Amino acid sequence: MEMDSPSQSRPPHVVIFPLPLQGHINSMIKLAELLALAGFKLTFLNSHHNHERLIKFTNIVAYFKRYPGFELKTITDGLPLDHPRSGNWFLETYEEAIIMKIKQSFREMLMNSNPPVDCVIADGFSGFAIDVANELGIPIIGFRTSSPRSFWVYYSITDIIKAGELPIRGSEDMDRLITTVPGMETYLRCRDLPSFCRKSDIEDSTVQLIVKQTRKSTQADALIFNTTDELDGPILSQIRTKCANIYPIGPLHAQLNTKLKAKHGESFDQFSNTLREEDKSCIPWLDKQPYRSVIYVSFGSITSTSRDQLVELWYGLLNSKTKFLFVVRPDSVIGKDGEGEDVVKELMEKSKDRGYIVDWAPQEVVLNHQAVGGFLTHSGWNSTLESIVAGVPMVCWPYFADQQVTSRVVSRVWKIGLDMKDVCDRKIVENMVNDVMVDRKEFVNSATDMAKVINQCVSIGGSSSNNLDRLIEDIRMKRLKTTKRL
Ligand code: UDX
Repeated sequence: MEMDSPSQSRPPHVVIFPLPLQGHINSMIKLAELLALAGFKLTFLNSHHNHERLIKFTNIVAYFKRYPGFELKTITDGLPLDHPRSGNWFLETYEEAIIMKIKQSFREMLMNSNPPVDCVIADGFSGFAIDVANELGIPIIGFRTSSPRSFWVYYSITDIIKAGELPIRGSEDMDRLITTVPGMETYLRCRDLPSFCRKSDIEDSTVQLIVKQTRKSTQADALIFNTTDELDGPILSQIRTKCANIYPIGPLHAQLNTKLKAKHGESFDQFSNTLREEDKSCIPWLDKQPYRSVIYVSFGSITSTSRDQLVELWYGLLNSKTKFLFVVRPDSVIGKDGEGEDVVKELMEKSKDRGYIVDWAPQEVVLNHQAVGGFLTHSGWNSTLESIVAGVPMVCWPYFADQQVTSRVVSRVWKIGLDMKDVCDRKIVENMVNDVMVDRKEFVNSATDMAKVINQCVSIGGSSSNNLDRLIEDIRMKRLKTTKRL
């Protein structure tokens, strides 16, 4: 038994298991690489479907060969391979898929693992993984890929309901302050609650599922958050009252870039974990544009827009004082067959000299390009962190879930952008884009200042860097199961 201790005879074996969604895979694969850099044996467990896509659009297999012991394994997501997996497919099929298929495959995978698994890091939304790990006596850490503030609001929904602050009483009630989320009393309005809270039936199954999974995640031995104390300190203190051991180790993409740069120098090779084909032709286009003259527009991997919304956004951009790089995923425009594509073609034709359109962009590179001065975003957590690290101010147009909370924090707490929540009108788009890009310098200044602070956090001695070191040591020394449970 002694011989099998990872600290003595072999590196610790960690299994990382994200939910089968782009925004979740992105940060978890970065964590996997950080632990591989620390010499751990890593198993990255992806759905068959997403693994196929990564193989198609990236060099994933060749890239991770550089880390001895880095293994890519696959598991079912509960759906047949040819299912389109569009829209809200995940939440719609979640419970059934988990109970029927994923949990059992996960248990088998852990039981048959050689070398044995020393620690599981599972998506914080996968409560079933906690049950399986506990059953097998393996330490488990939950990784919450979205913002800690949204986590904290999800956690508090039961209290908000108990206090009679939910359900929302019609559109005239949207600006009412919510007072029952500790630490957020001064800025969280009904409008800023996660989109699911807008349902008149608060007992709705989606709301219940999210609350249940969030509360369950605090039963893990520890929680990882992709943030820093500097960004979310007050809320992290609140979360510590529910789960004593938390590791704020983000922004993970910046943490990884810093470590790779230290190891390989400025021109380090980097893995792009995209599930879609990147159109890199936008980079030569950006190269021709002046410093900070372009607003980048992208709404992540899941958001959809109606034809009318797309037209309003487009005219707002056309009428603004800036050029724009617009990501329009072919599957993102809701309309009859082919209608979305027609709109995009028509708009493209009209705006050739003002904008550039791609299906999917190399986003991190784009945000760090000298020509990009602003980001019109859906406030997905990865996009928000990537913008913060690049020092790019935002216009936020949140779509669903955690994004309503994040856009409020960007505008009201961090003051690095504007929140366009719940409106999509060409005049408002034009005004907000002009404010952030041209007319109000305070956004650029505060975004630049924040980027300096946050980039420090991932440098040696910074808070996130120290927290990552602590995480690595705690796994190596098998300290996780001994952490005091609340
Ligand atoms: C989802 C949720 O919507 C989000 O709110 C949650 O925080 C995580 O899961 P998604 O909507 O895809 O993710 O948004 P986001 O978290 O911003 O992740 C999108 C990722 O795709 C980013 O890392 C971004 O760099 C990348 N991306 C996006 C591209 O590489 N190219 C693009 O054109 C658009």
